[in-house]
Amino acid sequence: MTHAADSADIALAYHARTKHKTERYAAGPETLDWDAQPNPFREFEGCARIALSLDAASISTSFADIYAPDSVRPHALSIASLGVLMELSMGLSAWKEYGPDRWAVRCNPSSGNLHPTEAYVVSRNIPGLENGLYHYLSRDHVLEQRCRSANVAPARAEEHPRLWIGLSSVHWREAWKYGERAFRYCQLDIGHALGALRYAAGTLGWKAKVVENLGCAELATLMGLDRAEEFSGVEHEDCDLLIAIDPHPENDQSCEDGRAPGAWEAAASQWAGHANLLDPRPIYHWPVINQVSLATRGGIASTQADAPNYPPLAEPSKAQAANIILNRRSAQRFDRKLTMSADTFYRMLDCLLVRPIAPWDVWTYSPRLHLIFFIHRVEGLELGLYALPRHPQAAHALQGALRSDFLWQRVDDAPHHLPFVKLMPADCRTVAKLVSCHQAIASDSCFSLGMLSEFEAIVKQDPWRYRQLHWEAGLLGHVLYLEAEAAGLRGTGIGCYFDDLLHDLIGLKTEQFQSLYHFTVGFPLTDERIMTLPAYPGR
Ligand SMILES: Cc1cc2nc3c(=O)[nH]c(=O)nc-3n(C[C@H](O)[C@H](O)[C@H](O)COP(=O)(O)O)c2cc1C
Repeated sequence: MTHAADSADIALAYHARTKHKTERYAAGPETLDWDAQPNPFREFEGCARIALSLDAASISTSFADIYAPDSVRPHALSIASLGVLMELSMGLSAWKEYGPDRWAVRCNPSSGNLHPTEAYVVSRNIPGLENGLYHYLSRDHVLEQRCRSANVAPARAEEHPRLWIGLSSVHWREAWKYGERAFRYCQLDIGHALGALRYAAGTLGWKAKVVENLGCAELATLMGLDRAEEFSGVEHEDCDLLIAIDPHPENDQSCEDGRAPGAWEAAASQWAGHANLLDPRPIYHWPVINQVSLATRGGIASTQADAPNYPPLAEPSKAQAANIILNRRSAQRFDRKLTMSADTFYRMLDCLLVRPIAPWDVWTYSPRLHLIFFIHRVEGLELGLYALPRHPQAAHALQGALRSDFLWQRVDDAPHHLPFVKLMPADCRTVAKLVSCHQAIASDSCFSLGMLSEFEAIVKQDPWRYRQLHWEAGLLGHVLYLEAEAAGLRGTGIGCYFDDLLHDLIGLKTEQFQSLYHFTVGFPLTDERIMTLPAYPGR
């Protein structure tokens, strides 16, 4: 057997064993000591710290402009605009307080608010910032200087400032609570973080692109994650991806920005810092996470997207983008009496189709995830099961794989280009709640959905894509979060669902497709007892 086949088997087996079933949840801790939660903030002791400014609220870009590539004059890349990028993507947006409990929430959502995703900044020629590698500490909105590098020539007048953001995951933070299924959540969180960075870049008139063909070892070296002595005795961090920020999207040549920076030269680099210990008393151990992590490492090979040419998005929100991003929250309860408008619903769906604009311009992959909707309260739509295949060929494959009595009937009221179809009229509220681990957020909302991924063949061909398919799911979730917020509604990601219950319901018998993430959108009910405090008091 080839190495790739071994790796694919590991990834597929991991996926199968981490399914939640009605009779048993995926293996996880039997008890949780809430007072001994891992520290949600990684920091590096012994690094110089550079405070970033908090200027996001002053960025007037509208939400609509993020989708209109040429409408925002690009901000100059400086330490100040870098501060905005980080604040609106990985930064805190508030502290919450209820009784004796106090917790931070961030612009990027995270399963269980556990935040396994860490962000690193690689800078070159940015005014006000030395060339090198920095860890972003969201708690304080500061950069920790991990590596100071003299191997890149000091700023030459003609060389543009350049910026890359690396993302990694501390699996233990998530595994502490969710056990074996945690690796999936870490990957979904990466997808959200990628989305958060792309929207934040858009507020500054910038683009963001995942760097392709970059090996895991190379990336770990770039992000300093293979420096064993600086992580000795603490939780491991697994590198996921590198994003090139393009601050000159108006300049075609700047697409060389899709490349990785050169490696650090040992002789010309000075490193500092030791990672902190997040959990001094880990009780459980989930070796399968390490196995799937190793099996799904690899380069990020580019593919040619072959998306249809859709018409421009209709009626985007003119509200200030920063305000929407900073106020994004997960709904914890929904109002069961309210119905969302058809216009809002179709606009939200339209944003999920792949166009060469934010956020889908982060990579060249064709969409591989397709949506199965439980429609509960959407104006003009009969209650029932619906589908949005996000790729014309997928519609055909889905029809062959799902129940033969599904209608596949075009919804006439939907915009003509939107491949939105009715599968079956039914009141799905009870089953939607059941499928999502009995969570009422899946039935009290206006709609909930499952993200069906083209699965087995892709993972078999390239095991690394097990991660990337989850990133696509997270990205879809992120669009829904922000679009819901922009429309005065609210969404919530749903990582807890009974995988095969959904598959059985829709008649899926093989692993050709698998559901990777669920989501729900509706009118939120807020818990007035929870206090909201400033993200960075005193600053
Ligand atoms: C991948 C993922 C899975 C999630 N799964 C659930 C879920 O099953 N149930 C739920 O109530 N919230 C879920 N959430 C919402 C998180 O709990 C929420 O993002 C987190 O508490 C932070 O709050 P915020 O989104 O308001 O910043 C999920 C979020 C993500 C990103």
